[in-house]
Amino acid sequence: MLKKLIDKLVTNQEVATTSKRNLEEIKQGPIPEHVAIIMDGNGRWAKQRGLPRTAGHQAGVDSLKKIVECAAKIGIGYITAYTFSTENWKRPQSEVDFLMKLFQQVFEKELDRFNQQGVKVKIIGYKDRLPDSVKQVAEQVMKKTENNQKIIINIALDYGGRAEIIEVIKNIASRVKDEQLKIEEIDEAEIAAQLYTADQPDPELLIRPGGEERLSNFLLWQIAYAELYFTQTYWPDFTAETFLQAIADFQNRERRFGGLKEGRC
Ligand code: FPP
Repeated sequence: MLKKLIDKLVTNQEVATTSKRNLEEIKQGPIPEHVAIIMDGNGRWAKQRGLPRTAGHQAGVDSLKKIVECAAKIGIGYITAYTFSTENWKRPQSEVDFLMKLFQQVFEKELDRFNQQGVKVKIIGYKDRLPDSVKQVAEQVMKKTENNQKIIINIALDYGGRAEIIEVIKNIASRVKDEQLKIEEIDEAEIAAQLYTADQPDPELLIRPGGEERLSNFLLWQIAYAELYFTQTYWPDFTAETFLQAIADFQNRERRFGGLKEGRC
């Protein structure tokens, strides 16, 4: 028993030391301003442990808290986390209900921590289809954190990339119809200004844990030039260490944006 405890303490100590060293090293390199995360693998993580899928979502909240803290420490300005997609309504009602309660609890329970850590919360997505109780606390948490400046966390809730683009098209079409905008004036900036993430830089890095390598309708416009990082690790097992690994990987990517590397012809 005692040995187990000591082993655990030693391991934690090692992790803490490694993280610290990595953190300092990583701060020397380019830091993405905005990181998008698809928090996948919660259900499989729980199943592996003989637990209900919902236990995986619950554990996933702790991972997100750790990652936001770590992101703020290395100077990342924005995290966008995919918590519920426009397609997730198709899940069993019991899981949807659990998730809605979980969102409500997190927004209520974590408000003080968000304010202590300077976290500004923005909820992006439809909102209309959310239960009133979730809508209310969502509005409250956004209002009560609106002046925080350390890091912005976009919680994508009932979010779909295609739905977002459809809204932009409708908006632009009606402005053209009302002669407030000319067709020739429609450009990337005009579209970006209508997105939920207007006024934010596009994510330079998208992380997807859980082993699947797809985008699942997440930030389709915004990630046009993002670096993609996939890992087998399930989201509840995703630690600050894993996060720093993804950032270190990003720092080794050559970003050309369709151009050529300097000096290459
Ligand atoms: C995907 O894993 C995860 C979700 C659909 C829910 C993620 C939500 C949270 C972690 C809660 C965060 C809450 C707040 C308010 C920030 P999955 O269920 O598809 O996993 P699987 O692929 O293993 O089945």
